[in-house]
Amino acid sequence: MSTTLSIENISTILVIGAGTMGRQIAMAAALAGYTSIIQDISEEGLAAARTELEGWAASRVAKGKLDQATATTALEALTYSTDLEAAAANADFIIEAATERLDIKTQIFERLGKLAPAHAILATNSSTLGSSKVAAATGRASQVCNMHFFNPALVMKCVEVVRHETTSDATVETAMELARALGKEPVLINREIPGFIANRLMGAIQREALFLADAGIASIEDIDTTARTALGHPMGPFALMDMVGLDVIDFIAQATHAETGDPADAPNPGIAALVAEGKLGRKTGAGFYNYN
Ligand code: CAA
Repeated sequence: MSTTLSIENISTILVIGAGTMGRQIAMAAALAGYTSIIQDISEEGLAAARTELEGWAASRVAKGKLDQATATTALEALTYSTDLEAAAANADFIIEAATERLDIKTQIFERLGKLAPAHAILATNSSTLGSSKVAAATGRASQVCNMHFFNPALVMKCVEVVRHETTSDATVETAMELARALGKEPVLINREIPGFIANRLMGAIQREALFLADAGIASIEDIDTTARTALGHPMGPFALMDMVGLDVIDFIAQATHAETGDPADAPNPGIAALVAEGKLGRKTGAGFYNYN
């Protein structure tokens, strides 16, 4: 039943998960002129997404970076739903950005395989689970891939498109084209590897930064300053970990380590301790830095 969905035939995009990533991916789709649906099981999650996106659009308009008509059109193109069956029924392209748990994702992809139109491509925004893990459950493995966006998704240009062994060329091509249509610069990853490209590069920098701080060689402030002023990074590794969320950083390390067994990938005990204290970074007001 594999079909060739080309970019011209995409009009409705469904994003599953109203969290940090899902909500901004859905807004990027609405801004690009697509009918965009955010589906989440939580009414509160959907309401929080709506509040953030409406606030974001208002502040862009106030800054003169977005005209009011475009903002209004995009916000009108965006709908919110708790009903996966209804949301999937007319979706041409689905991007899953739900909780990073294989059991949850497998269940979602199994349902999508039944609920979405036969031509729909099913992508996951997962950074830790290759789409091969959920592809079989859909009954349309050739139409499944990873499409990994970066936080904040309305700003960051990169999208990692990752194919698994049976992802079709047509699926890859359409996912790359869609990323471009959303104003992104996609890169193609030809086979699954834990961390893909960006998180492997980021992980290497974080490991070194943590080593330097743990050994008392320099303060986290000075390590961050060096990354910015010597290397031109937009923010230092500690500030970045706080922005991504220390729970997310810890989870990525756990998932990567479970897959590779490489001691270099093991979670950092200092980060695990901060997570245990509820210091998850910016979102909780404290992490490596305090944000009060
Ligand atoms: N949501 C939406 N837009 C945001 C935003 C957010 N959370 N944070 C900042 N922005 C926008 C601002 O509105 C601003 O837009 P304009 O310039 O058009 O007005 C722009 O981004 C720049 O923001 P600021 O001037 O406030 O601050 P900045 O210049 O320091 O940029 C930043 C902020 C874009 C976050 C920048 O510091 C940056 O690029 N940091 C690195 C981010 C990064 O590495 N992300 C990848 C994380 S890893 C990941 O996501 C993968 C994973 O699997 C965990």
